[in-house]
Amino acid sequence: MCYHFHITFAELSIVGKLAIMIINRLIVKNWRNFQQINVPLRERQFIVGPNASGKSNLLDIFRFLRDIAKAEGGGLQKAISDRGGTSKIRCLSAEQDPEVAIEIHIADTPDAPATWRYGIGFHHEDHGHHQTYLTHERVWRDGELLLDRPDANDNRDPDRLTQTALEQIATNAKFREIGGFLRSVTYLHLVPQLIRFADSIQGKIIEDDPFGQAFLERVATAHPSTRRSRLKKIEHTLKIAVPQFEKLEFIRDNGGRPHLQAYYSHWCSNQEGQHEDQFSDGVLRLIGLLWSLLESDSIVLLEEPELSLNIGIVSQLAPSISRLQRSRGSQVLVSTQSNVLLIEPGIDGREVLLLIPEKEGTVIKIASDVDYIRTLLKAGLTAGEVVLTRYPKQSSLVK
Ligand SMILES: Nc1ncnc2c1ncn2[C@@H]1O[C@H](COP(=O)(O)OP(=O)(O)O)[C@@H](O)[C@H]1O
Ligand SMILES: [Mg+2]
Repeated sequence: MCYHFHITFAELSIVGKLAIMIINRLIVKNWRNFQQINVPLRERQFIVGPNASGKSNLLDIFRFLRDIAKAEGGGLQKAISDRGGTSKIRCLSAEQDPEVAIEIHIADTPDAPATWRYGIGFHHEDHGHHQTYLTHERVWRDGELLLDRPDANDNRDPDRLTQTALEQIATNAKFREIGGFLRSVTYLHLVPQLIRFADSIQGKIIEDDPFGQAFLERVATAHPSTRRSRLKKIEHTLKIAVPQFEKLEFIRDNGGRPHLQAYYSHWCSNQEGQHEDQFSDGVLRLIGLLWSLLESDSIVLLEEPELSLNIGIVSQLAPSISRLQRSRGSQVLVSTQSNVLLIEPGIDGREVLLLIPEKEGTVIKIASDVDYIRTLLKAGLTAGEVVLTRYPKQSSLVK
């Protein structure tokens, strides 16, 4: 029998569209140490700020959205209790307003109008079941409001407001795409020792594996041709970033355990290469990070990737991310305190968000909206030279 597959142009463009969905605006109220956030986001976005300015809290907003979108083993109540309850999430300086709210705009490109908008608000109710209830949940597609809660059903049965529509398969048919997109958010805070010794530690793998415990397993279960092509791309970047690096291969040892094997050109005598347990922390983190970028078709959150990487590798991160994005189309949000990471001349001021701690909470500025930064970038300095060496104070920005 002969099967014909007809793929129309429209279908092709839908496939293309799915691959390049990004969140191009984030609007938030009362989340942790932020009273208000309203910022545009690009495909590659650096989040820069001193210790305790809220970099991890900001990345956690995207993890929270992922968690509420999970139908099984997730949902709103779990996402909130995993974070210690709404009282821990809600901004301490929020004063009278009990509501925490998040809205995202999802589009094909940073500058395109939103295809999707998704927004929720929630608060803790002291009476009754002491649960967190939605104050609203709204979905727009191309500007048309598809969901507007609380609706008549919620009014009849207020306990429905303990769940979002994203986590309820039965009610979200018209906007399931948003849930799928959010569930694919990846958060990485790779810990080299856990990647290396996952086998001997045999620990419980933490949900969504942020620390890379199951990394080798993921490499092992990828389709062989996908694995080959990803390792080739990673090898290409490693050759640029790591002196004398030659080749990266996937192998299994006699016991069938998966390994990565690296070859360096200076080892004339050792043709056997080196297993991941001998890789440097930096090389291992970089491999894990690049693999996850190649794997993702949604958002990748990188938590201070400069940790334990040497300067040579750190300076290659930003260009490596853009190179991989050209072939994949995922959005990458990177928190960092490293000016070396921002040294690439190609970094646009719009790609850098500055977190500026203030008494009433942290304020976020787009680097290119700060006059002196814009001027210096135009004069040819790089973001790395400008942003962290003279970190702005809020007082210097408000004239
Ligand atoms: N609900 C909240 N209201 C106000 N501040 C909070 C809240 N939750 C956490 N914080 C503050 O956020 C700061 C930590 O932010 P974090 O994201 O870890 O910073 P970074 O990753 O930039 O080092 C801490 O100072 C902590 O007190
Ligand atoms: Mg942090």
